[in-house]
Amino acid sequence: MTSWTRLILVLLCSAVTPVLGCDWLRHYGHLSNISLTLVQVMGGQLTDQESPVRFPYRLYERIRKDEVESQLAFIRDSLELITGLYRHDNRSSVTWDTDKTERFLMTIDRQTDGLKSCVSTHSRKNITRYYRRLEKSTLYRTGGSPESWELIRKETKLHLEQLDLLAAFVVDSSAASRRRSTETRH
Ligand SMILES: *[C@@H]1O[C@H](CO)[C@@H](O)[C@H](O)[C@H]1NC(C)=O
Ligand SMILES: *[C@@H]1O[C@H](CO)[C@@H](O)[C@H](O)[C@H]1NC(C)=O
Ligand SMILES: *[C@@H]1O[C@H](CO)[C@@H](O)[C@H](O)[C@H]1NC(C)=O
Repeated sequence: MTSWTRLILVLLCSAVTPVLGCDWLRHYGHLSNISLTLVQVMGGQLTDQESPVRFPYRLYERIRKDEVESQLAFIRDSLELITGLYRHDNRSSVTWDTDKTERFLMTIDRQTDGLKSCVSTHSRKNITRYYRRLEKSTLYRTGGSPESWELIRKETKLHLEQLDLLAAFVVDSSAASRRRSTETRH
């Protein structure tokens, strides 16, 4: 095979392979690492208090069977809802490091914006209700007590970890499907 035909083959493959369509996702892991680090260091030790709303582990399992578009939309929506918790309430009771907290929220915004550039559809799973319940049973119920903010921070970390795993899963499975279709084509 000449290098010329090889090039054409490669081009053909990449044109017809069901690619992820989200090159930006390569940056997700790096930003996710930063936001995960910041959420842990912007305050003191994380609380071991239990959340009044059960963590949706099952939902994170089920989302893995969805299509890539829907998975990315789910990550985008989750990040937006997480930011919503911090932006729309009174944070004056907590003594978190202001600079780190701002950098944390900015990093989440960058993760959200990056995903927005890749996906415009809705997720098949709507987690709005879950976050509303979380907000009601913590921040609203206590009028934004320090304890409720600590709970929010802890739950945020758990979600960011799950979203990080999900994003890595999307990257891995799309790389695997690309490999498979390249192999069958040669
Ligand atoms: C971020 O990445 C560094 C270097 O790979 C790693 O040591 C660290 O554990 C990561 N932090 C988080 C919160 O994942
Ligand atoms: C936030 O809470 C503090 C203390 O609880 C209160 O003094 C302040 O007025 C509140 N600010 C807003 C915008 O609700
Ligand atoms: C998700 O559900 C909420 C109400 O539970 C609704 O307001 C919102 O529009 C829904 N979002 C999507 C993307 O379907």
